[in-house]
Amino acid sequence: MSVDWLQQAVPQAAGLYPYVPGKPVEQLLREKGLAEAVKLASNENPYGPSPKAVAAICKAAAEVHRYPDGNATTLKQMLAAYHRVDVEQILPGNGSNEVLEILIRSFAGPGDSVVFSRRGFIVYALAAQAAGARGIAVPERDGLSHDLEAMSMAVDESTKVVCLANPNNPTGTLHAPEAIQRFLDSLPRDVVVIVDEAYYEYVADVLGDSWHDLKHPGLVISRTFSKAYGLAGCRIGYAVADAGIVAVANRFREPFNVSLPALAAAEAALDDRDWVMDKVACCKTERARLEQALAEHGLLGGHSYGNFVLLRHAQAGNILHKLEDQGIIPRSLAPYGMADYLRVSVGTGRENDRFLSALWPILDALQE
Ligand SMILES: Cc1ncc(COP(=O)(O)O)c(C=O)c1O
Repeated sequence: MSVDWLQQAVPQAAGLYPYVPGKPVEQLLREKGLAEAVKLASNENPYGPSPKAVAAICKAAAEVHRYPDGNATTLKQMLAAYHRVDVEQILPGNGSNEVLEILIRSFAGPGDSVVFSRRGFIVYALAAQAAGARGIAVPERDGLSHDLEAMSMAVDESTKVVCLANPNNPTGTLHAPEAIQRFLDSLPRDVVVIVDEAYYEYVADVLGDSWHDLKHPGLVISRTFSKAYGLAGCRIGYAVADAGIVAVANRFREPFNVSLPALAAAEAALDDRDWVMDKVACCKTERARLEQALAEHGLLGGHSYGNFVLLRHAQAGNILHKLEDQGIIPRSLAPYGMADYLRVSVGTGRENDRFLSALWPILDALQE
C-alpha cells in the first residue's frame, strides 16, 4: 500500500504548490523540435553579466572544493559601504528569493498573517503559506497597482510581515518614495515591512537612496544581483535592515547559503557598476521601443518600470502558444489571475525584433 505523503506532511503543504518558473529554452526546443529559441520569460538581463564577474566566476571555479565564506564577509563589507550601513545590517541570500523566505519564516508562523498585494510577486504568498502563516492578498487598485491604503487597513494585530515590490513584478507598477513613506507611517512600528527592490536599478533615479530616505523601524530593503547585474544563474541577493532583524534572520539562514562563485561574481559585479548601468540604459531604450510598438497596436497592458513589458489581449494564452511555436518564450500572467496578460522580458535589440516580427502575423491571423 502506498503512503499518502501529503497526509504526512506539515498541514500547510496542502495549500502549497511549486513555483512555476519561465519555461527553459531547452524544454521548448525539445517540445517543439526547434533549433533555437529566445527566452523572454524570467526578466533576466539579456546582455549577460559584467565580463569582470565572468572572470571572477572562472577564478572561483578552481576553489569550489572549499566551502564559501559562510558569513559573506567581503561582499557584506562592500554592500555596507555602498549602502552606508553597518555590516550587521546586511543579510545575504541565495537569490533575494531566499532572503524573502528567511524573513517571512523568521517572523511569521501559524496564527500570524503576512500582508501583500494580490498582484504582488507570487513568492510572498508561497513563503507565507510555507511558514504556516495566513497570507492576506489585498485586491489591487486600477487593475495593476498596489492599493496601499487597503493594504494598510488589512494589517491587524496578527500581522507580522508586510511585503511590497517596488517596482512590482509582474505588473511593472511603481510607487513614489513619498507614497511608500505615507504607507510606512500608517503601519505599526513592530511589523517587518519588506520593500522588495529587485528592479531598483531600472528606477534608481526615482527611488534614490531608499534605505536612508524611508523611515520605519521594521523596514527591510531587498535587492538582487539577478536582474540588472545579470547574475540570475548564480542565485544571489541581499537585504538591508535593522541589525536586530538581520540577527534574527541569521538564526534561520542555512550555513553557507550563498555559493563561492556567486559571492565572487557579486563582488566583481558591484565593482563594475558603470557596465551594469550602461546595460540598464540599453534595456530602457529597448523597453520604450517595445512599449511604443505594443501601444500602436492597442496591446500595451500598462507602462512597466521593470525590465519587462506587459501585453494585454483577450487571447493572450493563444498568442503565447503561437509565439512558443516560433521559439519565443513569454510568460503568461494567468497564475496571477491576469489571463489576458503576457509579460515579456526586454531582450536584446535582435531578440525584441524577433518577438515583434513573430507577433504581428499572429495578431493578423487572430483577426481574420
Ligand atoms: C519582485 C521580485 N522579487 C524577488 C525576485 C527574486 O529574484 P532572485 O531570487 O533571483 O533574487 C524576483 C524575481 O523575479 C522578483 O521579480
